[in-house]
Amino acid sequence: MKLMAFVGSPRKGSNTDILVDRVIAGAVSRAPVEAEKLYLYDLDIKYCNACGAHTVFQGSRDCPLRDDMGPILERMQQADAFIFASPNHGRTISAALTNLFARMMPLLKMHVEYDAQGAIVHAEARPLIEGKKAVSIVSQGDFSPSSSALVLMVMDANMRDFHLQKIGEMLSTGNLQRAQVLEKAADLAQAFSIGERLAVSCA
Ligand SMILES: Cc1cc2nc3c(=O)[nH]c(=O)nc-3n(C[C@H](O)[C@H](O)[C@H](O)COP(=O)(O)O)c2cc1C
Repeated sequence: MKLMAFVGSPRKGSNTDILVDRVIAGAVSRAPVEAEKLYLYDLDIKYCNACGAHTVFQGSRDCPLRDDMGPILERMQQADAFIFASPNHGRTISAALTNLFARMMPLLKMHVEYDAQGAIVHAEARPLIEGKKAVSIVSQGDFSPSSSALVLMVMDANMRDFHLQKIGEMLSTGNLQRAQVLEKAADLAQAFSIGERLAVSCA
């Protein structure tokens, strides 16, 4: 099983990263796993500039931005499963994860049907990563889960847009300090069990 984990926190070794490690450990406990963990803030992933090159209306061309994203898109197509992980930043996902989802757009191959007059009568996306498995992991500082309502919605919406099969999600609350999640045995156990489910789902 090839697993790609995207860590959307700028803080290595902190809450989001720790939870991702627990998910990976859970997966490894259930299956032979080739895991790749990517720290989004360490990578050269330029902002999407909305050129539209990848859209069917502009010939479904490759993204012209030359950075780390091209090889990542290639590897995503070879992967079986993904972990998308983010801290709550201003009640939504982090800037780096937002940009990752934007730069994943070339994976959304659009199929468009026109009528005799050239009007669009049907359009549908057939993502190149359709059907692969995914989980979302979120850490927040607030104690009230409602603070991450939008975070979870954005995670869900992106999984749906890329036709990924969501295997699980978790929201760990009250992590105001760096690595505070280490004090929360239940949250660490939940992350581990999500990893187990992810591995089983890929078997
Ligand atoms: C810029 C920024 C904005 C944040 N906004 C929120 C917020 O709106 N709600 C919340 O509960 N926590 C918020 N937090 C706290 C983080 O979500 C929390 O500390 C999280 O556990 C950090 O994860 P990390 O240690 O992996 O970076 C914010 C933190 C930062 C740095």
